[in-house]
Amino acid sequence: MNDHHIKTVLSESREFPPPEAFQSRAHIQSMEAYETLWKASCDDPERFWGEQAKNLLHWQEDFTQVLDWKAPYARWFDGGKLNVSENCLDRHLDKLGDKPAIIWEGEPGDKATYTYRELHQAVCRCANALSDMGIQAGDTVSLYMPMIPELAIAVLACARIGAIHSVVFAGFSAEALAERNRDASAKLVITADALWRRGNELALKDTVDEALRIYDKVDKVLVVRRTGRSINWDSGRDHWWHDTVEKANADHKAQGFPSEQALFILYTSGSTGKPKGILHTSAGYLLGTTLSSRYIFDLKDDDVYWCTADVGWITGHSYVVYGPLSNGATIFMYEGAPDFPHQGRFWELIERYKISIFYTAPTAIRAFMKWGEDAIEPFDLSSLRLLGTVGEPINPEAWMWFRETIGKDKCPIVDTWWQTETGSIMISPLPGATPTVPGTATKPFFGIQPDIVDQDGQSLADNQGGYLVIRKPWPSMLRTIHGDSERYEKTYWSHFKSLYFTGDGARRDEKGNFWIMGRIDDVLNVAGHRLSTMEIESALVSHPHVAEAAVVGKADDVKGQAIACFVTLHDHELGDPALNQSLKDHVVQHIGALARPETIIFTKALPKTRSGKIMRRLLRDVAAGEEAQGDMTTLEDSSILEDLKESSA
Ligand code: WTA
Repeated sequence: MNDHHIKTVLSESREFPPPEAFQSRAHIQSMEAYETLWKASCDDPERFWGEQAKNLLHWQEDFTQVLDWKAPYARWFDGGKLNVSENCLDRHLDKLGDKPAIIWEGEPGDKATYTYRELHQAVCRCANALSDMGIQAGDTVSLYMPMIPELAIAVLACARIGAIHSVVFAGFSAEALAERNRDASAKLVITADALWRRGNELALKDTVDEALRIYDKVDKVLVVRRTGRSINWDSGRDHWWHDTVEKANADHKAQGFPSEQALFILYTSGSTGKPKGILHTSAGYLLGTTLSSRYIFDLKDDDVYWCTADVGWITGHSYVVYGPLSNGATIFMYEGAPDFPHQGRFWELIERYKISIFYTAPTAIRAFMKWGEDAIEPFDLSSLRLLGTVGEPINPEAWMWFRETIGKDKCPIVDTWWQTETGSIMISPLPGATPTVPGTATKPFFGIQPDIVDQDGQSLADNQGGYLVIRKPWPSMLRTIHGDSERYEKTYWSHFKSLYFTGDGARRDEKGNFWIMGRIDDVLNVAGHRLSTMEIESALVSHPHVAEAAVVGKADDVKGQAIACFVTLHDHELGDPALNQSLKDHVVQHIGALARPETIIFTKALPKTRSGKIMRRLLRDVAAGEEAQGDMTTLEDSSILEDLKESSA
């Protein structure tokens, strides 16, 4: 975040009460109602969560204990049994069987709708097919798929049979997929021949084939025919979706699983090179996503809800699939990019499907702003009633633009703060109650107690910047890092005794609004995607010419941050544009296109302290083209700074 942003955020005084027309129909209609409920939820969290779990979820067997907390390990709703897929599907069939559950459009314009009854049947077929292929409760299934209905179907089918899904975003490389398959011991991979992206086919099955050459302990591959391209086929291993799933029996009884049954692993970046397999379990996660979807998106029977996130990210898990479907909502799913075949594509879709709730990311909003209003003007956006953002701090300019140009001043904006680890939204306005201010995620959600602390874990006064923590366990919290409890304890629970550490810096203003300042660890946020600087550095040093690498974030108008790499070579003379290009490709090959560096700067040496630590702060200044600030006395060799400035000029 640059100085200009910090100043505008500190002086922000515009405040918008909920629009009256919205408020009068909302689930929660006043700050008094919010405050009373929030206070009650925090005074006696176990009572609150216990009641919500009974009211909002369908249990096959009741739980006997709300929370068993042996810090930092939580068990929620022990003794209880439920089926997550039954909660998202079967329980709606009586009343909502004919209501659309998923409305989908593909990039080329092909369309599909699944009513709740049809989705239920599709999920039952898939569940039977997975069982026939030998998948049992507790096995891991890896999903590497386009944004097509089959992705949601596969997710829910895994949940239905108690299998653990590990969805890998389709932009990751074969190596990244192989690493995740290995870490999760995946038995089966579900994929498609390809996906459509800006008129091109992205060959997913080829990537899966390559990933399986790297890690070959996956027995079977299930393939959806999406684009029809020709693919390699291993008849002992590969199965078509249309030959198996679509021919399977549509009757399937949903068995109840214990509350703490593992539901999914989702990999995310941390401050070391190896991605973390965040583990979520069944009942608590479902409760967190169900409750937050209901109140934060104010879901109503007639809403058409569109969360633009890919199911490969936590936002897609919680707010494309589980939260909205558990509430019986109609979701819209789209396969393609926002600027293909034209820059008004999203607005065209909002008009066509009469989308009423639109949840997206600040990076997308900044891109829309850049494309200009001509792309929006032809389309009727009057169906919209609520807007939301997630993934990174939103700059007040983008917030105001979203409100005025897309929301026409009549839609509240919910700026929702949360993480892969938190499972569901932790800080957000309630759209019918909370006055919103551009740039702040405002107030904690029910049952959530965030705080800002100093390095000793002491609460800070209003308006002092510090570490964002959460004081009490909550049902949708991660349970551990798959296969690495030590890292779980160290990353989240060792900084401050018995407080969950988020990795974010923040401050709270005198009205109790939380202002998130961004990551304070070595995690970058590039276009709303979390990337670890260490992961990119490891990819760079695996190139035979690279001796050392340091990666930092560089402010970017659209992406928030872009990736800047400083690289030393075994032979400095080789540092030419061709190598620059091939290093970028090398990173893409190791991690995926989402990690493509924006700049690579060859330098004779990296600035280090006398104890050998790379001075990233200094590199950040150089990458930003700013004069290096702060204490330079720890720099081991001061001539390096001059050299760096020259190389980056
Ligand atoms: C950042 C995405 C400011 C934050 C759901 C967090 C945000 C990280 C916001 C988690 C927001 C997310 N305002 N920052 N509304 N939402 N972040 O795991 O740094 O992909 O720690 O989860 O995104 O990213 P993740």
